[in-house]
Parts: sequence; structure tokens; C-alpha cells
Amino acid sequence: MITIDLPRADGASRCLIGEGLLSQIAVHVEQAAGAGRHFVVTDANVGPLYGRSVATRLAAPFLELSVGEEHKVWPTVEGIIQFLLVNGADRDSVVVGLGGGVVTDLAGFAAAITLRGLPWVAVPTTLLGMVDASIGGKTGINLDLGKNLVGCFWPPRAVLVDPHTLRTLPSRELRAGLAEVVKVTMIAPSSMDHLLARWLPPLARGELGGAGEMVAGAVRVKADVVAIDEREKGPRQALNLGHTLGHALEAATGYGRFLHGEAVAWGMLTALRLARDRGLLSTADAQTWAGRLELLAPLPPISDLSWGDVAPYLSRDKKRKEGGIDWVLPRLGGVVLGVRIPDEHVARAYEALCTVPAEGPFTGLL
Ligand SMILES: NC(=O)c1ccc[n+]([C@@H]2O[C@H](COP(=O)([O-])OP(=O)(O)OC[C@H]3O[C@@H](n4cnc5c(N)ncnc54)[C@H](O)[C@@H]3O)[C@@H](O)[C@H]2O)c1
Ligand SMILES: [Zn+2]
Repeated sequence: MITIDLPRADGASRCLIGEGLLSQIAVHVEQAAGAGRHFVVTDANVGPLYGRSVATRLAAPFLELSVGEEHKVWPTVEGIIQFLLVNGADRDSVVVGLGGGVVTDLAGFAAAITLRGLPWVAVPTTLLGMVDASIGGKTGINLDLGKNLVGCFWPPRAVLVDPHTLRTLPSRELRAGLAEVVKVTMIAPSSMDHLLARWLPPLARGELGGAGEMVAGAVRVKADVVAIDEREKGPRQALNLGHTLGHALEAATGYGRFLHGEAVAWGMLTALRLARDRGLLSTADAQTWAGRLELLAPLPPISDLSWGDVAPYLSRDKKRKEGGIDWVLPRLGGVVLGVRIPDEHVARAYEALCTVPAEGPFTGLL
């Protein structure tokens, strides 16, 4: 079992990572959040795979949400709150969110606002959930106006990771999650590079032997970044590497074409090109990173999306400042924040990106 301390403003919290951990879930939930009544919130994919047995072990009522990002909205939160209250939740009750990032964002948010705040435990079952969505304390939902516009910081009492659950995750979801692992490696190569070099190739092929170790490395990096900047005023922006263009690609295609990590992979390729062009990375180093991202191919294509299609979405979630947008770019040994780049430079990089085959090789971009 690997244990990682997680920062929490109001007390200690831990991420536990262990193969087969779900079989001991009752002990871990109780240790982290107390012996109050437990309530399991999951989705209709994860419920039959793991949810029902987890609920049995916890002697907990459980709720299976409809699957998908489109359900990360207010009515679902209300449904969760009703489920909790109708089943007799009180202020000692513990909400267990079991599933991908959609489930943990919803379960955490519902816990945060039910009876003015119930403790909760995150049990992520996607790679993205394990390394990203359940770490850092953010919970929330989407509005028609945009994603994640409503929510709060409400960190779970514990994050319980059983890498066994990744065996049933579709390989496309796994590879999209690996994009976020590549991202944290770019942010903190000194702690992650050896893990990525060893485990990325087999994991990208679906061989999960190194999953626990790699998840642990990625969780440590995100936890460290969050610890110094819980409210995203400064250093936490590093985690947005690849996301400026990634979010724009997702929005420009109505969130229907890319998994988040796939769009971020395209975004990281763009960041590599911009960094190389500014002398922050050598061509050889940039190509090493592009070669790693290539292991996640094929990505959904972007060749039919012109700069004109994507550009309007670029500044939606970042304030456009005089002279362009501020980018997070990779450099040797880490990242640089707030690199202001004129749009015409980004346009050139994007046009080069569009000539890169979605199935690779990606190194031609550099
Ligand atoms: N709170 C945060 O800081 C934070 C950070 C990053 C992402 N997020 C959020 O996370 C969400 C994306 O999370 P996601 O990528 O996990 O998507 P998801 O929750 O939609 O899960 C992806 C798919 O995998 C299925 N699934 C989950 N675990 C499985 C398993 N073990 N076996 C088989 N199928 C399984 C789900 O039912 C779903 O169909 C977004 O809403 C995003 O905004 C939040
Ligand atoms: Zn992301």
C-alpha cells in the first residue's frame, strides 16, 4: 500500500493506493471519515462493476447516476441530495463517490452542500480521476454557460485508489488519462521522469503492471503543487499546461469529439512547438516529449479545424491581455508560467499542428 499525505486546509487527508484495496474499503472509509452511515454514489457503468459490492461491504445505500459529462449538472446534484436525505443521512454521514471525475465532482459537491457539508471519500476508478479529478479539493458542476462554473473547494477525507479497477476501463479512456500523467511529468520531471520512461510504453498498450506506482508519482506532484497554492492564485497554473488549446479544441467541437486528455495532448504538442520556437527547449528534448505523446495516438483528428474555428474559444477561460494570451510552456526541468504569446505566433504553431497526422508521428511538428 502506498500512502500519500494530501494538503487540506482543515486537517489531514490521505491518498491510499493499493491493488485490491476495494476489498478492504470499509476499514479505510471508517479510518478516514468515521463510523457514521455511509452512502455510495456511483454511475451506471461503475455500479455493476464495483459499486454494488462496495455498497455491500459498507452496508450502504447506493445511487447509480446516469453516465456522462452531460449529467454533471444541477438536477443530478439535487437527486444525490434527495437520495442522501431520504435514506436518513445526518451530519455524521459519509458520502463515498466511486467512479470517474464526473462522479467524484458531483458526489463531492453534493456532500459539500448537504446539511452544510458532509465528509466524503473519493474512490476514483478512471486514471484521470486517480491522478487529477480527485486530487486538489475542487468539486463542481457545469452550466450551459460553461464547464465547472459552479462548485467549491471541499476536499475528501481520503482518496482511495485501487489500480485493479483500471482493468475494465476502455483503453481510449486510459490513454486519455495518461496524457495528464505526461503533463505532470513535464511539470516535475525530476520526480516523474524515471516512472514515465519505465511505465508509459506498457501502460499505453494496456499493460497495467506499473499503474499504481505511476499514479502515486503523479498524485505526489499534483498534491505538492496544490499544497503551495490551494486556491489557484499562482503555481497551480502549471497544471494548465496543454489546457489553453485543449479547452479550445473541446469547446470548438461541442465537447463531442475529444476526450479531455486527448485535447490536452494536442495542446501539449502545441506548447512544445511554442517552447522550442522560444528557445525554452531544444528540438531534441521537444522531440522526446512528442515521441512520448505519440504513444497515446491515434488522437481524434484536428486537420479539419481551422485556426478560425478554434481561435474564438482560446480566450474564453483565460483573460485576453494586451498582446495575446498567457501560456504555460515547458522548459528544461519544468514549466514557465505566464508566457505572453501574440496570437499570430500561436496561429502559425496551430497551422503546423494541423499537418501532424493524428496517428503520429508527432515529431515532424518540431
Ligand atoms: N475536480 C477536479 O479538480 C477535476 C480535475 C480534472 C477533471 N475533472 C473532471 O473530471 C471529469 C472527467 O473525468 P473522467 O475522465 O474520469 O470521466 P468520467 O467520469 O465520465 O468517466 C469516463 C467513463 O469511464 C467509465 N468508467 C469509470 N471507471 C471505470 C472503470 N473502472 N471501468 C470501466 N468504465 C469506467 C465512466 O462510467 C465513463 O463512461 C470532467 O467532468 C472534469 O471536469 C475534475
Ligand atoms: Zn486536464
